[in-house]
Amino acid sequence: MASERTLSIIKPDATRRNLTGKINTKFEEAGLKIVGQKRIRLSKEQAEAFYAVHNERPFFNDLVSFMISGPVVVQVLEGEGAVAKNREVMGATDPSKADPNTIRAQFAESIEANSVHGSDSLENARNEIAFFFAQTEICP
Ligand code: PPS
Repeated sequence: MASERTLSIIKPDATRRNLTGKINTKFEEAGLKIVGQKRIRLSKEQAEAFYAVHNERPFFNDLVSFMISGPVVVQVLEGEGAVAKNREVMGATDPSKADPNTIRAQFAESIEANSVHGSDSLENARNEIAFFFAQTEICP
């Protein structure tokens, strides 16, 4: 399987509970290398643009408000089949449906405060990485 990169976001519910290190350990134990990482505060405009694909959905305003409610850690993860592997390590969007031992089963509070975001396709991964990172900020 080819080496890929995917975008991950450690969400405000997780940074608030100081879980960045524990979540990073889950990525690293799964063979994903953190090749870019920064802790930032999203603006409302950034969050709306990042989640624009969901702007017709009933939870859009809640999702944006939540994502700007505290710091997030944006990350580039690299490894074989990184997009699918990260989705596996994260678990289902709704933590009550996530497999045991996944990040969301272990740490998420709700479908909104679900601790992590991960790109859902290679094409989206490329776009989402470019949304947050300059090439010079990624160190393989
Ligand atoms: S998925 O996996 O992207 O197909 O999941 P989806 O159900 O489409 O959800 C997309 C993102 O919206 C968040 N979400 C919600 N936020 C607030 N309230 C409610 N009810 C809600 N339902 C879904 C969900 O956490 C997904 O966020 P990301 O960052 O994309 O994982």
